[in-house]
Amino acid sequence: MSSILDELQDRRETARQGGGEKRIAAQHAKGKLTARERLSLLLDPGSFEEFDMFVTHRSTDFGMDKTKMPGDGVVTGWGTINGRKTFVFAQDFTVFGGSLSETHAQKITKVQDMAMRHGAPIIGLQDSGGARIQEGVAALAGYTSVFQNNILASGVIPQISVVMGPSAGGAVYSPALTDFIFMVRDSSYMFLTGPDVLKTVTNEVVTAEELGGAKTHTTKSSVADGAFDNDMEALAEIRRLFDFLPLNNRAEVPVRPFFDRHDRIDESLDTLVPDNPNLPYDMHELVRKVADEGDFFEIQRDFAKNILCGFIRLEGQTVGVVANQPMVLAGCLDSDASRKAARFVRFCDCFDIPILTLVDVPGFLPGTDQEYGGVIKHGAKLLYAFGEATVPKVTVITRKAYGGAYCVMAPKHLRGDINYAWPTAQIAVMGAKGAVEILHRKDLGDAEKTAEHVADYEEKFLSPFRAAERGYIDEVIQPRSTRKRVARAFALAKDKQLQNPWKKHGNLPL
Ligand code: HXC
Repeated sequence: MSSILDELQDRRETARQGGGEKRIAAQHAKGKLTARERLSLLLDPGSFEEFDMFVTHRSTDFGMDKTKMPGDGVVTGWGTINGRKTFVFAQDFTVFGGSLSETHAQKITKVQDMAMRHGAPIIGLQDSGGARIQEGVAALAGYTSVFQNNILASGVIPQISVVMGPSAGGAVYSPALTDFIFMVRDSSYMFLTGPDVLKTVTNEVVTAEELGGAKTHTTKSSVADGAFDNDMEALAEIRRLFDFLPLNNRAEVPVRPFFDRHDRIDESLDTLVPDNPNLPYDMHELVRKVADEGDFFEIQRDFAKNILCGFIRLEGQTVGVVANQPMVLAGCLDSDASRKAARFVRFCDCFDIPILTLVDVPGFLPGTDQEYGGVIKHGAKLLYAFGEATVPKVTVITRKAYGGAYCVMAPKHLRGDINYAWPTAQIAVMGAKGAVEILHRKDLGDAEKTAEHVADYEEKFLSPFRAAERGYIDEVIQPRSTRKRVARAFALAKDKQLQNPWKKHGNLPL
C-alpha cells in the first residue's frame, strides 16, 4: 500500500512541476506566474480541487509520442472565492506553450459542462500559443467544442476570461464569447492575425503590444473590460468582481453584510450640479455617494468614458449602474457608449441584477462620423437592452434628459419601476437655445425677443415638473437623499414579477 501511495505522490509531484524548472524560470522571468500559482491566488487557500491531472495527449505525429507531459497544458478543477464555488481552468504555458490539443480541450469542456450542471461561474486564465500545431484539425475541433460550450453557457452562468499571456488566432474567440475579458498589461496580447502576417499581407509594421496589448483592447477596440498591472493585481480584482456576481441565472443576487446606513444623507450632493448648465461635474461622485461604502467596480473604465458602467451594492445587494458622464463629450450618447452600456445592461438582465440608471444627457452626439458609423443601430441596442430588461429598474435624472436620449435612458415608458428626478432636471426635446432657433427663426435677429423666447422655453420645459405632472417622474427628490430613495425603490421592486412575451429569442439590432 505504501508504495502505491508513494507512486501517487510521485505522479502528483511530477504533474505539479508542469514543463519543469527551466520553463517555470522562463515564465517567471517574463513577470508571469505559473498556472498553479495563479489558481492559488485566485481561489481561497486550500479550496482547489483539481481534475484530470494525469491526462496526456494522444498524438503520435512529429515524435509527440515521446513527449507526454501530465496535465497536457491546462490545469482544471473547482474551488471557492470567499466561500462561493467556481469552476476554473488555467492554461499552463510551461507545457507545450499552453497550446490546445484535443485532450486539453476535453479538459476545458469537462469543467464547462460541470459549471453549467452545478450552477457555478467559470473563470478561464488564458496563456497559450493557440492550437497545438502538431495536432492539426483535432486541435481545431477541440477549440470549436470549447466555443460551443461558451455559447451554451452564455446567460446561464457568468463566464470570465483573464488573458495573462498570448491569445492569438481563432483562439481569441473563447474569451470573446465570455461575459468579461480582463488583460494584464505588458504580458498579454490578443489578435486574430499577428504582426508577422500583417507585415507580409498589408505591409503594416506594428508590435504585438500595439496590435493587441491591454492598452489597445481597453481604449480602442473595447474587446477587453479592464487591464491590470500584473498577475497578482488581476487575480485580486477578479475575486472582487466575483463577489458582485450571482452564481447562475437562477441564483439570487449575492447579499453581504454592510456597515453603511441606507438612509445616509449626503448634503454635498445638493451642490453637485453646477449653476451653469454648460459646466460638467463628475458622475463618479454620485455613484460613489449612492453606493455602500463608496465601492464601485467599473467595467470598461477606459473606453467610451462618456458613460459609466459597473457594479455597486445597496444594502449589501449587487446593483448594476449605468450613468452618463458629463465630464466627457458633455455626457452625449454615441455609438461606443451605446454598445458599451447595452452589453452591460444585458449582462445584468441575464443574471437578475437590478439596474440603477443615472441620467444627464444632452442627446446623441451629432456628426457624419456617428451617422456613417451606424449610431442609429448602436443607439437602438441600448434602447432594446433597457426595454427588454425585466429586472428592477430605478432611474434618477440629475440634469439633462433631452430628446432621443431621454427615451433611451431607462425612462418610465421602458418599464422603469421607479423614476426620480432631481429639482435640477431638465426634461425636454432639446435645449432652449436649439428649440428657439427652430421655433422662432424669424426673431433670431432680435436679441431681446430671442432672450424672451429662451426664458419662456426654459420656464416651461427645462424643469422636471412637466414630466412629474404627467406621472412620467414618480417623484422629484432632494439630491442629498438619493441613496435612501434609491435603496427604498430597490427594496420595493425586489420581488417584481414581469415577463416578456414568449419568443425563441429576440432580434437585437447587431
Ligand atoms: C505547439 C507550441 C505552440 C503551439 C508554442 N509552443 N506554441 N507548441 N503548438 N501552437 C511551444 C514551443 O514549441 C515551445 O516549446 C514552448 O511552447 C514555448 O514557446 P516559445 O516559442 O519558446 O515561447 P515564446 O518565445 O514566449 O513565444 C510564444 C509564442 C510562440 C509567440 C506564442 O510560441 C508562437 O508564435 N507560437 C505559435 C503561435 C501560433 O501560430 N499558434 C497557432 C495560432 S492559430 P519548448 O518545448 O521549446 O518549450 C490558432 C488557430 C485556432 O490557434 C483556431 C481556432 C478556431
